Amino acid sequence: MKTIVALGLALALTGCWQMQAQGGGGGGGKAVAFQADVVPVLKAHCAACHTEGNPTVPFFMFNADGSANYANVQEHGTQMVDAVTAGRMPKGQPGSVAKADLAKLSGWVAAGSKDD
Ligand code: HEC
Repeated sequence: MKTIVALGLALALTGCWQMQAQGGGGGGGKAVAFQADVVPVLKAHCAACHTEGNPTVPFFMFNADGSANYANVQEHGTQMVDAVTAGRMPKGQPGSVAKADLAKLSGWVAAGSKDD
């Protein structure tokens, strides 16, 4: 029973969230934020390779000290969404980014890639 309630809640939250990510709604609810929403996804799925100092990647999302490089992520946002959607990235682990996490990234890009 508890599991069913928790699952329902998770689905409800995901639903709300996706509406915001698509820029709909008009008030009520927070937009996708760079530091709070996008960075954790990139940290989990991309940072192992896309960090300053790795010569095999074309651009880095994280500085050597582990902080996110907003300018680089902003510049490559659309390309990053494409690469994950097409299964090119994360390299060697296509499809490993959860749909909801990819939606955060694409929602953030669609909303103008703001630094918040
Ligand atoms: C295991 C290492 C690794 C991980 C993890 C990884 N990448 Fe990459 N990425 C690479 C390498 C290496 C390249 C250079 C091109 C190539 O070898 O395919 C690259 C290239 C890219 C490119 C430019 C080329 C293209 O296909 O558009 C983008 C955009 C990109 N990565 C996004 C991401 C994103 C977003 C994530 C996380 C969701 C990620 N990568 C995770 C290694 C990685």
